Amino acid sequence: MIDALPTQGVPAEQVLAELRGMRQADLPTHGGRLFAYVYDPARAGLDELAMSAYALSAHVNGLDPTAFPSLLATENALVAAAARVLGAGPGTAAPDVVGSVTSGGTESLILAVKTARDAHPEITAPRLVVPSTAHAAFAKAAHYLGVALDLVPVDPETFTPDPAAIAAAITQDTVLVACSAPSYAHGVVDPVEQIAAIAAERGVRCHVDACFGGWALPFLRRVGVSVPAFDFGVRGVTSVSVDLHKYAYTPKGVSVLLHRDAALRRPQYFAFADWPGYTMINPVISSTRSGGPIAAAFATLRHLGDEGYLELARQTRDAVAGLAKAVSGVDGLRLLAPADYTVVCLAADDPGLDLFVLADELAARGWHTQPQLPYADLPASIHLTVTASVLPQVPEFGQALAEAVFAARTQGPVELPAELLALASSLPPEQLTPELVAALAQQFGLVGGEPGAAPRLAVVNAVLAAASPRLREALLIEFVSLLQRPTW
Ligand SMILES: Cc1ncc(COP(=O)(O)O)c(C=O)c1O
Repeated sequence: MIDALPTQGVPAEQVLAELRGMRQADLPTHGGRLFAYVYDPARAGLDELAMSAYALSAHVNGLDPTAFPSLLATENALVAAAARVLGAGPGTAAPDVVGSVTSGGTESLILAVKTARDAHPEITAPRLVVPSTAHAAFAKAAHYLGVALDLVPVDPETFTPDPAAIAAAITQDTVLVACSAPSYAHGVVDPVEQIAAIAAERGVRCHVDACFGGWALPFLRRVGVSVPAFDFGVRGVTSVSVDLHKYAYTPKGVSVLLHRDAALRRPQYFAFADWPGYTMINPVISSTRSGGPIAAAFATLRHLGDEGYLELARQTRDAVAGLAKAVSGVDGLRLLAPADYTVVCLAADDPGLDLFVLADELAARGWHTQPQLPYADLPASIHLTVTASVLPQVPEFGQALAEAVFAARTQGPVELPAELLALASSLPPEQLTPELVAALAQQFGLVGGEPGAAPRLAVVNAVLAAASPRLREALLIEFVSLLQRPTW
């Protein structure tokens, strides 16, 4: 147990040593062996530059853009860069584009929904239409903002929605239609042109969630990858979000939300003068905002430059192709969706091969992938977010994959005890108790185990796979609540 507030302060070197010690238990953020959560360009010196820039501006406060002009200047420069990458700015079809830097994709999406909602105060029960593959942050936005969510199912082969189904889902109360470019789970670009045209025809805003791969797609296109139109060049697209802390490889805490013009952005602002303190005018959710992430992002973009991102796109393209080939070469595995951009998503077509066991076997070999649970008529899969740092690792990954598949087949699929299966498949979420989840977590070795020992998660994933989405949510809320306890 580490005391964050010791009676006597601890020397700086010791504090850092303690933090380094704790970081040992984390998944590796660098080195191309972790296929989720992190984006690693493997550029020598880039981290140091970003951290120096971060340190320079960490105490700057975005609360008031006039007090810290450096923050305003760097934010505006990031917005301009993102706009240029996404087909907007002078000389384009969207010359009047404006935007804001937010803390991440979720905040950008919440604000896109808020802006669309507040543009229509006359709509008392606003609705949001998205494909079922849209990021969960839209559900969060809808929940926080009191907007009803209309999920349009996707085709189980293409993972994209039928534009006609999107059209059918739009009602007089719809304030926003959104789609992904690309989606997180499968890395697929929705039919943005058709969806945006439908939205425009119905007078509804259309947001393109390019948070995930939106920075990569334009550069991939320029290195020869065929990318459909998805940005401000598409008529009817009213806003686009892109996370710089993903494929722009900046440290975490930076996304950009762009609107086609300032009038469309206006409802994004929150202002409040009806109190005795300073008048609050916030473009984003936080009020006090550190300049650190923005300065670090500015330094990263300026240092890598357009050519740097082209080279990183080439490396990502080649890494994706190499991994896709490795997957296709293994008997019993297949690509669930085409590995066209930055994601490799694989499925098993052999009942003797349990993907959750495979993910554990890969983890045991030092390769950390992201298992995805079955959902509606989409099967379980393993997701790999591929970044430039993966390229040199491809041959080794291919070998590890073949070995892990062999080991997973030998082990056989998880067979849940009958009572656990019954519990997972039929327990009403409201009957779940913290005690039951604590007991399960103990049983599965998720708590109270050896520090650093990676628990085998296949059984946990099998339980979650058998559970309904509502029960999955309830189980994981209790589990995370169990983890979030003060260390006395
Ligand atoms: C398509 C998409 N949208 C939004 C988000 C949310 O981004 P964040 O985790 O930065 O809040 C993600 C995250 O992976 C994403 O893939």
